[in-house]
Amino acid sequence: MFRCRSLLLLGSLLIAIIGGHSESFPCKLRDAQYGKVCVCTADYCDYLENPTLKEDQEFALISSTKQGLRFEVSNGYFGAKDKYTIKDYEESSTKNSKDDNNATIISRLIDEALAAVFPQSKKASVSTSRSVTIKLDRSKRFQRMEGFGGSFTGAVSYLVENYKEQKIQDHLYKSFYADDGLGFNLLRVAMGGCDFDLQAWAYNEKPENDTKLTNMDKLDDRDVIRVEQIKRMRDVSGVKKLRIKGAAWSAPPWMKTNNRWTGFGLLKREYYQTWADYHLKWVDLMESNGLPIWAISTGNEPTNGVFFMFFVKFMSLGWTPQSQAIWLNDHLGPTLRNSKYKDIVLFGNDDQRYTSPYWFQMMNRTRPNSINYLDGVALHWYWDEIFGSSFVDKTNDYMADKIHIISESCIGDKPWQQAKPLIGSWDRGEKYARSWLSHLKDNFHAMVDWNIILDEEGGPNYVSNTVDAPVVANTTTYTEFYKQPIFYILGHFSKLVPEGSVRIEAIPSNVNLDAVAFMRPDDKIAAVFFNSGRADLDIIIVDSVRGNVTLNIPAKSIHTLLYN
Ligand SMILES: *[C@@H]1O[C@H](CO)[C@@H](O)[C@H](O)[C@H]1NC(C)=O
Ligand SMILES: *[C@@H]1O[C@H](CO)[C@@H](O)[C@H](O)[C@H]1NC(C)=O
Ligand SMILES: *[C@@H]1O[C@H](CO)[C@@H](O)[C@H](O)[C@H]1NC(C)=O
Ligand SMILES: *[C@@H]1O[C@H](CO)[C@@H](O)[C@H](O)[C@H]1NC(C)=O
Ligand SMILES: *[C@@H]1O[C@H](CO)[C@@H](O)[C@H](O)[C@H]1NC(C)=O
Repeated sequence: MFRCRSLLLLGSLLIAIIGGHSESFPCKLRDAQYGKVCVCTADYCDYLENPTLKEDQEFALISSTKQGLRFEVSNGYFGAKDKYTIKDYEESSTKNSKDDNNATIISRLIDEALAAVFPQSKKASVSTSRSVTIKLDRSKRFQRMEGFGGSFTGAVSYLVENYKEQKIQDHLYKSFYADDGLGFNLLRVAMGGCDFDLQAWAYNEKPENDTKLTNMDKLDDRDVIRVEQIKRMRDVSGVKKLRIKGAAWSAPPWMKTNNRWTGFGLLKREYYQTWADYHLKWVDLMESNGLPIWAISTGNEPTNGVFFMFFVKFMSLGWTPQSQAIWLNDHLGPTLRNSKYKDIVLFGNDDQRYTSPYWFQMMNRTRPNSINYLDGVALHWYWDEIFGSSFVDKTNDYMADKIHIISESCIGDKPWQQAKPLIGSWDRGEKYARSWLSHLKDNFHAMVDWNIILDEEGGPNYVSNTVDAPVVANTTTYTEFYKQPIFYILGHFSKLVPEGSVRIEAIPSNVNLDAVAFMRPDDKIAAVFFNSGRADLDIIIVDSVRGNVTLNIPAKSIHTLLYN
């Protein structure tokens, strides 16, 4: 009896340690080269238990600032007479901002010049008023959110494996996917390899010309590790419904016209059905190894292998919209829909948004029915500052009423940007804030970021296509990792906006503040406010049901407000 009870006790203790623990720990702030990061080790990492509201008029506000607040919680009441002032983080010794070194200044100048030339990228212009009224109207409803997420590439798997202590691996997982982390629920993985891997690879590279895919009946060794890691991530973070989306970067070379991983190469016609079977087999492999797949796409960045092969050095499979329409309509679509995985969500395009209107137009011309196989469109954000929201409108001629997601985003991809993490950079976080606000207002249902962790150089990437990431590893010691400002900025959108939340109208009275708001499945409102200006602001929140509250928020800050 006693033994039984102590076992029970041990069990609940274990649950408390590895499962749904929920407690708040503040960020361990450290100065890095470009600003501030939060440091996590095996023994310590910051978390924020989701705020609860005790009374109808109560609100909770989560704030992060360039200066150094990270998920700072304030509470108050609607209808209060006075305004609530959010005090910024204060340095013990005052230093100049480290964000403003030459490289970031140049990169910012180019980004700002682009914004000036291409008016659709809205940036806050000068306005003398330091006060903004934001009207929230919960009777005006827009898209229903699918959620938020990141990606588990071979590079992520490699870095996680190098952290020898399970406890620090778990901190990484929980930081993104636990409720007291960012509350992510979506995850993108490559079918086989991608550029963020130690080498190019695919299933069934051997035997060649094998239309039966005889070598695809078990996980590749690299996926044996990755699948175990993802299952651990799911279990330890307690994520309620982890929804995984797969995409192939390239077929094994023998299926391609150029018999290579990269360059100008399309799928050989004789392997159209084999490539469809490959997708089904991959879904089945994952499912039978304990990872049910929510969605797949028709392939990562299909234009890389036909138009951009001089720039893209990593594995790719080229498609024209015409050839993809035939493959989808005559092979992949029927293969999936006639299988036991018929309900899998299928995304089209999975490429830069400037390609998407033309893509679907040509698909529709080639095989009008092909688009009926698609449940949604997946877009990458990389050239959005130049190719604005009108591309989404045009895509909607074909994809209205389907799921719209951003399936990849990161910074450091442009020739004028430093192609590696700027550790501590708030500016890079702001680029995310602007982009996510604009996509959410364009009715996107989900935002999926790229690698959840990269090393100090922005890799590993087998062709050195390095970029920034929300978390940066310390590969000298593998005993710490650093949560960048980007991490918190993503969290301001994801943490209090669970799957099933519906966007509602939120209109700021001037451009000094950008905002987006949601009504959650529990009928609470979560609103995100972003002040990119160099001055503090008074914001008056006017809710059609709850009344008013006035907040003073610091310069360079982002906030999530939760109320009934
Ligand atoms: C920034 O540029 C100036 C010249 O424009 C130079 O003197 C200075 O050393 C540069 N600083 C850094 C950190 O590169
Ligand atoms: C596979 O097919 C290609 C093209 O027909 C041929 O050149 C190659 O030798 C074949 N490979 C094997 C292992 O049969
Ligand atoms: C798609 O193709 C069909 C059939 O050719 C055509 O009737 C329809 O207008 C096309 N849709 C768009 C949005 O162009
Ligand atoms: C990684 O840890 C080493 C040893 O503590 C330290 O010298 C180095 O600065 C750290 N790297 C980063 C990016 O902070
Ligand atoms: C709320 O603020 C708006 C706009 O400033 C104002 O018109 C309205 O009277 C206020 N309502 C209350 C209850 O204070």
